[in-house]
Amino acid sequence: MLQIEIDHLNKHYGGFHALKDINIAIEQGSFVALVGPSGCGKSTLLRTLAGLEKTSSGDLRIAGESVVNKPPRERDVAMVFQSYALYPHMDVEHNMNYSMRLKRRPKQEIADRTRVAAETLGLGALLDRLPKALSGGQRQRVAMGRAIVRDPKVFLFDEPLSNLDAALRVHMRSEIRKLHERLKATSVYVTHDQVEAMTMADHIVVMRAGVVEQQGSPLDLYDRPANKFVAGFIGSPAMNFIPATVSPDGRKVVFEKDQTQSIALDRTLVPGMQLLAGLRPEHLSFAAGPADLAVKAIVEGVESTGSMTFVTASIASQQVVAAHSGRPNVSKGDQIQLYIAPGNVHVFDAKTELAISQER
Ligand SMILES: Nc1ncnc2c1ncn2[C@@H]1O[C@H](COP(=O)(O)OP(=O)(O)OP(=O)(O)O)[C@@H](O)[C@H]1O
Ligand SMILES: [Mg+2]
Repeated sequence: MLQIEIDHLNKHYGGFHALKDINIAIEQGSFVALVGPSGCGKSTLLRTLAGLEKTSSGDLRIAGESVVNKPPRERDVAMVFQSYALYPHMDVEHNMNYSMRLKRRPKQEIADRTRVAAETLGLGALLDRLPKALSGGQRQRVAMGRAIVRDPKVFLFDEPLSNLDAALRVHMRSEIRKLHERLKATSVYVTHDQVEAMTMADHIVVMRAGVVEQQGSPLDLYDRPANKFVAGFIGSPAMNFIPATVSPDGRKVVFEKDQTQSIALDRTLVPGMQLLAGLRPEHLSFAAGPADLAVKAIVEGVESTGSMTFVTASIASQQVVAAHSGRPNVSKGDQIQLYIAPGNVHVFDAKTELAISQER
């Protein structure tokens, strides 16, 4: 069953077109990540879902019912903000159950739901603390608790982890994901961190400048990006792009800046076509392979995180990054060979930047 339907949605702020014909269908119980660069419209889309912004045209349906004319409190959604937005003068317990008290729910129900949410989030011992006496991670939990006690149809998260340090962020990611699996409420989660999106979501929507560029499962987007933007956005480090031309037999792409070098394709393309070859850092291999799959590269720098090594190199005068899970024995100035499996070569039209899927 579809829980959220965003149907030809547009949003204008005066003369500025912030959301352009957005269409997204979200299954009941799924976890959807909205990603894209700063200013692309992620928060605006979330806020229109919550009812905090009016739509300009199009429809929004929650559980099959149009909500465009409904105020926020009638939409049965709960939003968790980046800033947490806790009431500073209320303790944890009262922050969590504020909305229920506002609705004058029975005392017993308020107490029960608050207790369950506090247990779920490990806040039981902190109920009488004020927000100022909590760590960032604990405040984040209280903000989540406030959403949970409402038992909403839909959770909306706007970068809830961006104020936390790296280790806590990784921990909270899996906590939120576990919570989602337990509560089974539909969640829409905004982040500009594509790793967060890849690891948490069932469905990712990639936005740019108010437009949905592509949506699909995390691996779908990674394996079959529809255009150069999505290809460069999903995956870390980012995909490398090298200008190239399809060879006369259609089976290779020849680098524009060094026509003695080429990479083999696993399909046949239109000869002479100008394109961008997209090579993921993790697909540039240091392990020796067949000569026809090798390209020459000059090492420009080596960075190691301990577990991973990132080698910056130039191929056909173009800087690329190669990622290696071990410690390749290379250093600056070395001439090396990198191997690329034909199945891992992405190609994009040089002009439109759209992925080339059709064969000759
Ligand atoms: N109230 C407003 N009036 C006019 N323009 C606005 C308003 N709110 C947002 N915008 C503009 O709409 C665009 C989208 O903003 P939005 O906050 O949705 O971006 P975002 O994707 O959430 O970015 P970030 O990752 O930085 O949070 C931006 O260009 C922003 O300047
Ligand atoms: Mg935002």
